[in-house]
Amino acid sequence: MAGKIAALALVPAAGCGRRLGTRTRKPFVTLGGKPLIVHALETLDSCGSVDAIMIAAERPYIKRLEDIVRRYRIRKVIAVVAGGRTRYHSVKNCIRAVRGHFDVILVHDAARPFVDKKLVEDSIMLAMRYGSCIVAVPESDTVKLSDGKGFVKRTLDRRLVYRAQTPQAFRADIIRKLYLSGRRGPSTDDASLAESAGLKVKILEGSYRNMKVTTKEDLKAGEAILSCA
Ligand code: CTP
Ligand code: MG
Repeated sequence: MAGKIAALALVPAAGCGRRLGTRTRKPFVTLGGKPLIVHALETLDSCGSVDAIMIAAERPYIKRLEDIVRRYRIRKVIAVVAGGRTRYHSVKNCIRAVRGHFDVILVHDAARPFVDKKLVEDSIMLAMRYGSCIVAVPESDTVKLSDGKGFVKRTLDRRLVYRAQTPQAFRADIIRKLYLSGRRGPSTDDASLAESAGLKVKILEGSYRNMKVTTKEDLKAGEAILSCA
């Protein structure tokens, strides 16, 4: 592959953090002495293979995020755009706002503070090679499919089960088409759009450390991870 790959990172941060249940919006809660979102932004900013970053925020919090970007000197942020009703709509708003040429667009949740540079860089390379790539970890529990009425339907083969994380990276033409063609998918994940379009999605094995902060317990776990680092 000749020449440098131009990559844009989209950071959806427009959720309301209902399950966290804090008065402070999730991107701004403190983890390790700084706002949660800053952890992911600093890692993306320090990746040689990331050229630009775009953030989706709830409209009333755009200014506050712009201030944080300045205060923490996140140099690669090109825009903070208004998010939407679901994560899907937030990512879509970012994709609509993209100007200029990028080879790869990756999506990384603001709520995953412990992504490392290697995962970001490898997912960009694999997206160039395969079109779509997600970071995921093998499931460690036995996984049951329920019948939707509170009973077990069957047990899944755990060796085949992965838990999807972010980054999820795509060749730019692919993710544009997926989001702008009117196709709808589950709103918690980007790759499901590629799957439903019949595209192959490469799995890049990630780390359990790359957890998502969803509940107050996760915030405590995050502090514990930092104190062991
Ligand atoms: N997200 C977003 N726009 C939305 C909903 C979610 O940009 N309308 C973002 C969140 O800010 C988060 C990521 O998608 O960084 C993953 O979502 P999740 O962990 O579910 O966060 P929230 O939606 O904020 O939390 P909750 O579901 O508990 O309300
Ligand atoms: Mg949510």
